Amino acid sequence: MKIAFIGTGNMGGALARAASREQENRIYLVNRHPEKAEALRREIGGEVTDYAQAVREAELVFLGVKPHVLPELCETLRPLLREKKAPFAVVSMAAGVPVARLRELLGDCPMIRIMPNTPVAVGEGMILYTGDAEEEMEAFLHAMRFAGRFLRVEERLMDAGMAVSGCGPAFVDLFVEALSDAGVASGLSRKDATVLAAQMILGSARLILESGRHPAELKDAVCSPGGTTIQGVRKLEEKGFRSAVIEAVIAARDA
Ligand SMILES: NC(=O)c1ccc[n+]([C@@H]2O[C@H](COP(=O)([O-])OP(=O)(O)OC[C@H]3O[C@@H](n4cnc5c(N)ncnc54)[C@H](OP(=O)(O)O)[C@@H]3O)[C@@H](O)[C@H]2O)c1
Repeated sequence: MKIAFIGTGNMGGALARAASREQENRIYLVNRHPEKAEALRREIGGEVTDYAQAVREAELVFLGVKPHVLPELCETLRPLLREKKAPFAVVSMAAGVPVARLRELLGDCPMIRIMPNTPVAVGEGMILYTGDAEEEMEAFLHAMRFAGRFLRVEERLMDAGMAVSGCGPAFVDLFVEALSDAGVASGLSRKDATVLAAQMILGSARLILESGRHPAELKDAVCSPGGTTIQGVRKLEEKGFRSAVIEAVIAARDA
């Protein structure tokens, strides 16, 4: 599949990396400062190009710019998209920008709105998607299948999903850093403490997903009566860990 990435920053770049793992994909990269797209091309292949060629060639056109830049970019893309024949879809990853708004900016073309996260870069992303480009959706899922796990949600739930899985990596990074700090305070090297924390989270996440068991049940299995782990759980509850996480996600959703 021919895929254009317009805006090859953190998220656009991560999605382009994922797309490049599918041998059949042909990648077009466009960025305001082309040297950034060129650096990515050296890493993943494809072609650095301009808006006109990207839109003309691609069957999926990813928009990877920040939401405030979107109106200006769409003004440039709108006439190019008007010329374009189906099948194709515009894929927007812009946080908080609904399909209806994209349509105002770009005109009436097939749209897929996604909410990815940075673990896409290592093929373990969580990608929420919504939209009305039914025919192109299957092709999109196939072309991007090395990006991670996909979940289709109603558009009204995109912001809630974004706050959990889009912002979540930053929350987990804070948690890993705090665990690592505690390890260092207790005598572990920084490197070892960070590996212990990150691998533990990777394993715990896989256990939840692969066992299908409720996290509370898995937590109970680690907390022996009178043991050490339940004392840690008691301290986390005392310090408001759960409430802090819930409030963080809701604040992100409402921002
Ligand atoms: N980061 C995340 O975890 C995350 C998660 C979910 C969704 N998103 C969404 O992903 C989008 C991008 O965010 P980001 O974090 O990847 O931002 P970013 O790293 O700043 O990337 C934005 C890229 O767009 C380029 N750009 C700006 N204006 C352009 C234009 N007119 N034409 C072509 N390229 C242009 C920038 O190029 P220059 O550097 O040359 O200016 C930059 O490479 C946002 O809409 C955000 O809501 C991000």
